[in-house]
Amino acid sequence: MKSKQYILGVLTALLFASCSNDEKVVLKYADEGDSGNPNPITQTLKEKAKFKIGAAVKMKDLQNEANYKNAVLKHYNQITAEFEMKMASIWTSSTAYNYTAADYLVGFAQDNKMEVHGHTLVWYDSFPEWFKKAQYDSIAFEAKVKVYITDVVGRYKGKVKSWDVVNEVFADGGAMRNETVINSLFKDPIGFYGRCFRYAKAADPDAKLFYNDYSVVLDAGKRASIKKMVARFKANGVPIDGLGDQFHYATDTNRQTMKTGFTDLASTGLLIHISELDIKVNTGKSDSYVFNDVENQKQAETYKYITTMYEELPQTQKFAISTWGVTDKYTWLTSFWHSKEYPLLLDADYNKKPAYQGFLDGLK
Ligand code: XIL
Repeated sequence: MKSKQYILGVLTALLFASCSNDEKVVLKYADEGDSGNPNPITQTLKEKAKFKIGAAVKMKDLQNEANYKNAVLKHYNQITAEFEMKMASIWTSSTAYNYTAADYLVGFAQDNKMEVHGHTLVWYDSFPEWFKKAQYDSIAFEAKVKVYITDVVGRYKGKVKSWDVVNEVFADGGAMRNETVINSLFKDPIGFYGRCFRYAKAADPDAKLFYNDYSVVLDAGKRASIKKMVARFKANGVPIDGLGDQFHYATDTNRQTMKTGFTDLASTGLLIHISELDIKVNTGKSDSYVFNDVENQKQAETYKYITTMYEELPQTQKFAISTWGVTDKYTWLTSFWHSKEYPLLLDADYNKKPAYQGFLDGLK
């Protein structure tokens, strides 16, 4: 089976060898067991990269599936909880926290000498129902959030290396999101968010603190708003260390736009985190979509482009590239995008995809 795949890979690679595209990736389906491959992949992502390689993981998959757990351990050296460290998961009532899954994940990382990226302290989409219903005024609201940040960041002090303090504040185009309760409560929402960074810093002075959002490198308006916020934070001594762009992009995402935006983002001088990377292939959301070799190749090239671009950052601004998931078997996109979607680096059987090789080829 594998040698068949390999021959297919070589054929497709030959097909693509005729185009003079410098993002070209030679397809390799092999893993270590493939003795017939003259060009075996010898390094894992985490072995090659000089920065952290992360994955969003779920406790239940780590507990229930040995292959999943082994893949995480083999390829990655940082984890993010896919949902278990969000406010709605931890803050179960005004007087209770549920740390079961968060503790498990932090313990798993410690046992295996991995870093944890905390995601996320303040996100409009993950305010618990009880909190939204409580209808606090701005003073009471902020006091509660301060206690939450202090408790959670304090609990994992020294264990969670970095936090997305604030997630997704700006709408497409750069205006403040209007669906968040914070906008109706606070005259100056950015001021509130800045204080959230201060609360986190006070609870763990060594944690790296991030603002995280999506489409940052594509959406010039959103990026301008983020840069303005960062400038204000810097001017007022708000402790922000880095910016995350989620990178939920696709094989047809315009690469030049991506690069221009990435360079602009890097001009802030902050750490840059590619925080939730996955690359959609079924861009037309087609029910008859087939993820064939040509599609694999496109995806591999996109990954290669992204890691190559990331490596062009000054060394001091590199933080991590984290994929939003581990295997195509489990990806949020099958429910949030289309059931036929294959956005990650390992296939459903935990084999390395051409995308893995593309990612690896882009690393220095
Ligand atoms: C998603 C998770 O993957 C899903 O499992 C969950 O149900 C909803 O959230 N941006 C973010 C992430 O910052 O927290 C989101 O994660 C994906 C979009």
